[in-house]
Amino acid sequence: MIQVTFITNDNKTVTAPENSNLLRVSLREQGGIPFKCGGGLCGTCKCRIEKGLENTDGIKPKERKHLTDAQFADGYRMACQTFLNGDVSVSWQPRAPKPATPPAVASEPAPPSA
Ligand code: FES
Repeated sequence: MIQVTFITNDNKTVTAPENSNLLRVSLREQGGIPFKCGGGLCGTCKCRIEKGLENTDGIKPKERKHLTDAQFADGYRMACQTFLNGDVSVSWQPRAPKPATPPAVASEPAPPSA
């Protein structure tokens, strides 16, 4: 088993099997890494491997669409594209807090009366 520490989520630390996908670990353990597509398209899951970058697998072509060489050198990866074979600590840019009340959902118009 390996250890994943979610720095931005109060250093929450969880264990996972080797070769786990970072975003999947986050989802399963409520690590809190932001995401949308889960498929390498949106770039939302951009995060920074602060410790254990050597325990991540190779950079995927999809990641190169969202991150620069300088960012890779700095430890940035896309969580949904990153697999882990050792302990890592990961941080990310928290998303803006959601509004307290969700916007009202428009109700369907009443059917015309016969
Ligand atoms: S969640 Fe969309 S690129 Fe990773």
